[in-house]
Amino acid sequence: MTEAAGLWEAWAKRWDRFQETYVPAREEQFQIIADYLAVIRSAGALRLLDLCSGPGSAGSRFLQARPGARVVAVDWDPWLLELGRRTAPGASQIAWVEADLCEARWIDALPQRAFEAAVVTTAMQWFTPEETARLYGDVAALLVRGGVFLLSIRAASGPDSVRTLVELAQLRWQERAHDAPGGEHWASFWDAARREPAFVELLAERDRRFAGRYPRASRPLAFHEDALQTAGFTGVGEVWRHHETVIVLALC
Ligand SMILES: C[S@@+](CC[C@H](N)C(=O)[O-])C[C@H]1O[C@@H](n2cnc3c(N)ncnc32)[C@H](O)[C@@H]1O
Repeated sequence: MTEAAGLWEAWAKRWDRFQETYVPAREEQFQIIADYLAVIRSAGALRLLDLCSGPGSAGSRFLQARPGARVVAVDWDPWLLELGRRTAPGASQIAWVEADLCEARWIDALPQRAFEAAVVTTAMQWFTPEETARLYGDVAALLVRGGVFLLSIRAASGPDSVRTLVELAQLRWQERAHDAPGGEHWASFWDAARREPAFVELLAERDRRFAGRYPRASRPLAFHEDALQTAGFTGVGEVWRHHETVIVLALC
């Protein structure tokens, strides 16, 4: 492995460790998503749209289980997309699409317009309620009849009093994850990446694209369920939960 390849590989591992500090049972969640995709479409062609893919986290893991699948990964961060192109298992089988999902015209960047499945993991906090509603509608329009959308999001359920407790319990989990060996904070990860000369240009472009954007507080599960139903999904339900983190399944 060249020095450059080793550098990118090391950062791919660091990305996973960083995300695991914020996302409970992250690998288990990818497995659960793959299980539902297998149940819903056990054989035959499966075209998977990995939205806000980062380095192709969900799509590349799914390809390991289903090598014949076709994955389209969409993200707006040029550094994370490059990380995926260089390090994701099965990267050459993934179509990497650079597009801003806040823009309604992101669909124009897609290489195809029909998918059996779509996923979004740990990313809906980047969108306003209006953008979320539009994005769910876009996904519904891209899925074939019987298609499935799987979302890993933060969304507590129940009345306000219960949701507050769920959010506090999640924070306790997160503090333990930060304190664990290899635990990584947002600032320490991105500061260290910016100190790496090989990443300067891509991260400068990332900073330009995301200037003024920030992750928002989570919204109740009912918000997402309503938005998905309004978008045209018929069966919508929670299929896994850890405190505030939930996998939602929506059927077209
Ligand atoms: C926490 S990361 C999760 C990445 C990946 N899904 C994973 O699980 O590792 C959130 C992702 O959302 C992407 N993102 C945020 N806003 C976006 C937008 N407007 N368009 C496309 N991607 C966006 C970020 O670039 C980042 O890759």
